[in-house]
Amino acid sequence: MEKIQRTLAMVKPDAVDRWPEIEKIILEEGFTIVERRQVRLMRAEAEEFYAEHRDKPFFPDLLQYITSGDVLALILAGEDAIGHWRRVLGPTRVSEARQEAPGSLRARFGSPHNDSHNAAHGSDSVNSAHREIKFFFPDLTLEPVLTGEGAKEY
Ligand code: TYD
Ligand code: MG
Repeated sequence: MEKIQRTLAMVKPDAVDRWPEIEKIILEEGFTIVERRQVRLMRAEAEEFYAEHRDKPFFPDLLQYITSGDVLALILAGEDAIGHWRRVLGPTRVSEARQEAPGSLRARFGSPHNDSHNAAHGSDSVNSAHREIKFFFPDLTLEPVLTGEGAKEY
């Protein structure tokens, strides 16, 4: 059954100059690009965006990476957009993506030199998508999307 969702995608700093190729993939996969915004995150903003990872050992490196240049924040819409975009991304670690999903975005655009510089982000749940879309697009008023069950999903 059709389940239209929105998700928050983010192209990370060292992949921003690959945007034309990434946009082509997004459109070929059938997503609608609802909004796009290029922004340089301040450290405090990055801490907020990745708050769930605050206590992880990789947090300082993650903050350093994500604030090292502009990112491209995108709202993507489509059927099962959250899961679909995660599948397009591939596994978190670039080396794993290259092994297990060589056609994935992280395999193709992630850094061959740093496993964590994985080119792009995707929301992992409806709640995360809602929070992350609000984070990057606080002034945007979005209509609820209808799921197959007729329930409202934002
Ligand atoms: P996580 O939310 O676990 O992965 P995903 O982006 O696939 O949802 O982690 C957020 C980011 O933190 C991840 O994209 C890259 C970085 N990271 C590391 O640097 N080392 C790690 O061991 C993990 C799990 C993540
Ligand atoms: Mg995550």
